[in-house]
Amino acid sequence: MSRLRVGCVGTGFIAGRHLGALSGLDDVEIVAVADSLPGRAEEVAARYGARAYPDGAALLDTEELDAVWFCVPPFAHGPLETAALARRLPFFVEKPLALDLGTAREVARGVRETGVVTAVGYHWRHLDLVARAAELLRDAPPQLVTGHWLDRTPAAPWWSRRNGSGGQVLEQTTHLFDLARHLVGEVATVSSGEVTRPRQGFPSADAPTAATALLGFASGAVGTISSTSALGWRHAVGLQLLGAGLVVELGERSLTDHELRVSTVDGAQVTVSDEDPIAREDREFLAAVRGGTPVQVPYEEALRTHALAWAADLSAREGRPVRPDEELS
Ligand SMILES: NC(=O)c1ccc[n+]([C@@H]2O[C@H](COP(=O)([O-])OP(=O)(O)OC[C@H]3O[C@@H](n4cnc5c(N)ncnc54)[C@H](O)[C@@H]3O)[C@@H](O)[C@H]2O)c1
Repeated sequence: MSRLRVGCVGTGFIAGRHLGALSGLDDVEIVAVADSLPGRAEEVAARYGARAYPDGAALLDTEELDAVWFCVPPFAHGPLETAALARRLPFFVEKPLALDLGTAREVARGVRETGVVTAVGYHWRHLDLVARAAELLRDAPPQLVTGHWLDRTPAAPWWSRRNGSGGQVLEQTTHLFDLARHLVGEVATVSSGEVTRPRQGFPSADAPTAATALLGFASGAVGTISSTSALGWRHAVGLQLLGAGLVVELGERSLTDHELRVSTVDGAQVTVSDEDPIAREDREFLAAVRGGTPVQVPYEEALRTHALAWAADLSAREGRPVRPDEELS
């Protein structure tokens, strides 16, 4: 089998996870990486025997690739995807899709028009634990959903600024909004509130330090999803789904350390998993590039999750209920 030639734009934390997974595959060659931070791409390129570029445009202009990974912060989306679409180049992009909804909608239109293969890094969907949760909930559809992302402020310089990350709801808690959509269905309306307090050690921060969203699902289920990045440690990340006589709780302690707790009147059962959903989503995307097989989270599907997180954030900013569907139309 011929080796697929791949590149990666952005060589920070999550790129390290993808490149680590890709470098273990015999049928993949990492040919080039790019990063706007001087020296960072060179260091990573040396590790994988790849060429280094100071920006993604130069990489895409020069290299003949079969696929590219975009692992850049939220503010950097748009031009990279547009360049990939112009070349009909399949791309894997990390969540969130962009800082705003307009950019993501525009890219989605390009994906639709070109039919380019895409995948988005909502990695929870690749856990067997989530498939098991979906199976259990089929017999006891969720009536109530509660979610929480209770964490520290990440150190990346772009994270605590709204014009860098979009804020925690858009950047982090989007994983929980995605799980909620996947396991409960679409959200019809969302009403949110937020608070912004000074963060020790982050003098230029302006992103909210806490937020909460009240969700009305199309199924009639109700839910709340809360976020804070005001702690000095990761306290808890999880989603609880409650149906008749059943509580299903999914939790993440790290990217490869997840837990499923299932409770009924007879007691609770906990399953802990250390499967690597990042490696799994990468392999699924590569199979789609090779053979046109489906991916679980193509761009269009991720756009709906992004619209929900966007709606939750917009509702808090404007102090009014927002319908995600209306933001998409
Ligand atoms: N799926 C997940 O669970 C998961 C986990 C962590 C991060 N992420 C997402 O991945 C993205 C990156 O996060 P990270 O933690 O790796 O951040 P990071 O800051 O560690 O790395 C981002 C890198 O991109 C580079 N960069 C910025 N703009 C660029 C541009 N225009 N061209 C080339 N390089 C550019 C930066 O210099 C930096 O090295 C974020 O959107 C984040 O939400 C997803």
